[in-house]
Amino acid sequence: MTAAHRSPEESTNDGEFPFTTADFRAIADLLYAASGIHLADAKATLVYSRIAKRVRKLRLESFRAYCDLLRSDPDHPEHAAMLSALTTNVTRFFREPHHFEHMTSDLLPPLIAKARAGGRVRLWSAGCSAGHEPYSMAMTLLDAFPEAARHDIRILATDIDPLVVEHARRGLYNDGDVEPIAAPLRSKFMNRAGSGWQVAPALTELLSFGSLNLMEDWPMRGKFDAIFCRNVAIYFDEPTQTRLFTRFAERLTPDGRLYIGHSERSLIPQLTSAGLTIYRLKGAA
Ligand SMILES: C[S@@+](CC[C@H](N)C(=O)[O-])C[C@H]1O[C@@H](n2cnc3c(N)ncnc32)[C@H](O)[C@@H]1O
Repeated sequence: MTAAHRSPEESTNDGEFPFTTADFRAIADLLYAASGIHLADAKATLVYSRIAKRVRKLRLESFRAYCDLLRSDPDHPEHAAMLSALTTNVTRFFREPHHFEHMTSDLLPPLIAKARAGGRVRLWSAGCSAGHEPYSMAMTLLDAFPEAARHDIRILATDIDPLVVEHARRGLYNDGDVEPIAAPLRSKFMNRAGSGWQVAPALTELLSFGSLNLMEDWPMRGKFDAIFCRNVAIYFDEPTQTRLFTRFAERLTPDGRLYIGHSERSLIPQLTSAGLTIYRLKGAA
């Protein structure tokens, strides 16, 4: 039986805390309003396992009490904790490698020429999770253009979850994390730090990190030559995806590119395909 077919007061599981369909809906509604993330009924078990930890930590006796706490105080710090608990932050270095190959072969040559001529180049990793994506972008850029830091080139990396942004900013990874990085890039851009790895200062110099909810206003000025927003929109419903891609289209330079995840599609008329899960503005180069 799905959550939608149960009575709102019926418990959806036999766990440590009572968890009703109404509790699931309340949490799903709060998450949707805060982040645009849509939770299908099938995610009830996931919500239970991730939020039960929060209920326990706050020493509450039920999910009902947890929902009441959140609804009674929109500024309660638990809103951020709930968001961190429910976002999926899975990522890895050079995920979907064809995007980085495309960066090297198609995106970067005209951008390097633009930067050398004194132009401004801006790349954005929107939904950067723990930093693997923006550091992969920075490694690809520096590999093609070692003197990038002497030009007006920056990579912005943002995520709604401040915990992953902090991880990204620290730039510390373990052996398993760095495995997908090709050996020549790893030896150039990753330094041994205890039992792990620290990203080289050459990468951090190019990057700015920040918390940003894609559903809210974007404070950045200027347009982007490339936006990577991969495996983020998949968690949104279709109207939310359409709104987001429309806003990205408004933020692309005329020659800019939007890179999205392997199971995502843009259907907005302003964008047209420029490769596998890569888009450009219609009518532009
Ligand atoms: C699965 S990870 C993808 C990370 C990376 N882009 C990649 O492809 O490996 C999705 C990320 O999107 C972030 N996210 C979800 N909703 C968001 C929103 N409304 N605004 C900004 N980031 C969001 C999550 O916190 C999470 O870190």
